[in-house]
Amino acid sequence: MTTFLVTGGAGFIGSHLCDRLLAEGSRVVAVDDLSTGHVGNLAQARAYGQRFTFYSVDIGAEGLGALFVRYQPEVVYHLAACRLKPPEAVTEARTGVLGLLAVLQASVACGARKVVFASSASVYGESRAGYPLKETALAGARPLDPGAISKKLAEDYLRFFAGTRDLDFASVVLSNVYGPRQYPVDGFGVVAAFAGATLSGRQAVVFGDGSQTRDFLFVDDAVNALALAANRGSGKTVNVGTGVETPVSGLYRMLAGITGHRGEPRFGPLPPGDRARSALDGSRAAVELGWKPWTHLEDGLRETVAYLRSN
Ligand SMILES: NC(=O)c1ccc[n+]([C@@H]2O[C@H](COP(=O)([O-])OP(=O)(O)OC[C@H]3O[C@@H](n4cnc5c(N)ncnc54)[C@H](O)[C@@H]3O)[C@@H](O)[C@H]2O)c1
Repeated sequence: MTTFLVTGGAGFIGSHLCDRLLAEGSRVVAVDDLSTGHVGNLAQARAYGQRFTFYSVDIGAEGLGALFVRYQPEVVYHLAACRLKPPEAVTEARTGVLGLLAVLQASVACGARKVVFASSASVYGESRAGYPLKETALAGARPLDPGAISKKLAEDYLRFFAGTRDLDFASVVLSNVYGPRQYPVDGFGVVAAFAGATLSGRQAVVFGDGSQTRDFLFVDDAVNALALAANRGSGKTVNVGTGVETPVSGLYRMLAGITGHRGEPRFGPLPPGDRARSALDGSRAAVELGWKPWTHLEDGLRETVAYLRSN
């Protein structure tokens, strides 16, 4: 039986990943400091009994290495991440840089075969390359916030550990992920924010004029790419997105239609660092991972709204 360790396992994407790995018959150890994650996200995972273990611990904590050695994971999924608004470079670097190094060192020490890293489309910053963006755009990328800067730095650290410590990796660059268990927190997660507001009859806030585009990816599709990366995409960075650009104002209209909300949103100032466009070309993921997006936006949004209604 394969053992996986998932950092950020109680988070939005991490908890779905735990469910998927457990459903496939694996053993899963989730590590999360619950800074933005919730134990409630692990209700399904806990039903797998002894095949699932959860540790409420910071990846920067001293005991992390011992924990890895105890469970000897074959593959480590590194999803723990800290993003703050307004940005706080030092605090974010504690998890994004030092935390990453702690995870890589612990992975080497316990003899893990591979680290699968969850990177983000934000790593590309405001790119001048053609959209949807290919991985080659990383070369000239200028990330715009500390979280995205950490993601870019991680690319170099992953290669350094692969070259010097024989630790394989795959860096999965996710576009804007949405779906059940995503909660609107401090301006992150525009689908959750609009769905929550339109469902409860509150006025949603659209940043800027709403013409900025995002590539919305349903969480099951993101998790599928991460699951495939355990055995494929060796030493590669792969974009995982639909390649479709949806304006944020268009997203609002879709969600208002699904929830039956008639009100108009309020338009607020565009936060600094908000990108005008975002879309990822998934052709390399098709070749390297055998991955393709599967969920139509309208279907994924309906499922997200149904989840929020029942919770
Ligand atoms: N949601 C998206 O649209 C999206 C897009 C691209 C990439 N990603 C990446 O995917 C990963 C998961 O994102 P998410 O949307 O599920 O966010 P999330 O906040 O729900 O999950 C991150 C988890 O990491 C945990 N965490 C933070 N700092 C920690 C620390 N020091 N030690 C242990 N645990 C810690 C949090 O408690 C949380 O449960 C992140 O790396 C994120 O950058 C997300």
